[in-house]
Amino acid sequence: MNLKGRSFLTLKDYSPEEISYLLDLAAELKAKKKQGITGNSLKGKNIALIFEKPSTRTRCSFTIGCIDEGGHPEYLGKEDIQLGHKESVEDTARVLGRMFDGIEFRGFSQETVEKLAKYSGVPVWNGLTDLYHPTQILADFLTMREHLGDLKGKKLVFAGDGRNNMANSLMIGSAKMGVHFTILAPEELWPQESLVELCREYAKESGSVITITKELDAVKDADVIYTDVWCSMGEEDKAAERVALLRPYQVNAELMARTGKDSTILLHCLPAVKGNEVTADVFEKYADVVFDEAENRMHTIKAVMVATLGNLDA
Ligand code: CP
Ligand code: NVA
Repeated sequence: MNLKGRSFLTLKDYSPEEISYLLDLAAELKAKKKQGITGNSLKGKNIALIFEKPSTRTRCSFTIGCIDEGGHPEYLGKEDIQLGHKESVEDTARVLGRMFDGIEFRGFSQETVEKLAKYSGVPVWNGLTDLYHPTQILADFLTMREHLGDLKGKKLVFAGDGRNNMANSLMIGSAKMGVHFTILAPEELWPQESLVELCREYAKESGSVITITKELDAVKDADVIYTDVWCSMGEEDKAAERVALLRPYQVNAELMARTGKDSTILLHCLPAVKGNEVTADVFEKYADVVFDEAENRMHTIKAVMVATLGNLDA
């Protein structure tokens, strides 16, 4: 599999085989790191990390993943560079593309990350936009593989804001990988119909079933219950409205019991607002899985950088 030179902007651009390859590579890099073996595949590569929004996991994963492989990461925060203040995305992209070998972008607009890719001429990786969070899905799927085995045919239910970046990206990834995917949310927070249609097209190939519902019984037989904050970054003013809409969809002991299974796991991309989308007791019960998932951000992000920019023979 050769992904050299490719950007990673949304999972829409990646085939099931390519996604599987990235998961396999991440598992291999993880196993090596556990044995104290890191690589040199990013030796001589300079990587820009642009963050318009805050981050713990994504920032640290790109930084450590890059350094583990011999590369140099450079953090460029919102206030540190001219992007969006004094300079157009196109111009910043052309400058960074002359100096850096790869660029990570976290921010608001999906259009910005796409423009960075178009104008920089180097691989650009989406570290989260309002629309998508594709690197997170790789960590989620690696964690599912580790805890549940093969992804195909597993049932994943996302309870919460069904139109946010996580719901969108989980739906795309699940549809591609043959994971049965349900969004459990009030109608006001259902995903865009056009994206659901697109995912149902992918699902025809993979055998996945995509369900959008407001009925709590939909969690029955779930292998994974997934949740995320009720207000994403940039939507803080919507807090009261979201609490009112989403309270019935809180992941609590009662909702977990409705799966009818003891083996169901909880996943959460983090950070978590305990008492909102998940209760503290449920979170603690599944903390080992959730922090495996957080650790897997690093191994999967490293795999994305190595596959698209690295020299695998180094
Ligand atoms: N899950 C995730 O993207 O976390 P950060 O916002 O801390 O990067
Ligand atoms: N939906 C959340 C994800 C955080 C990783 C947000 O955008 O804030």
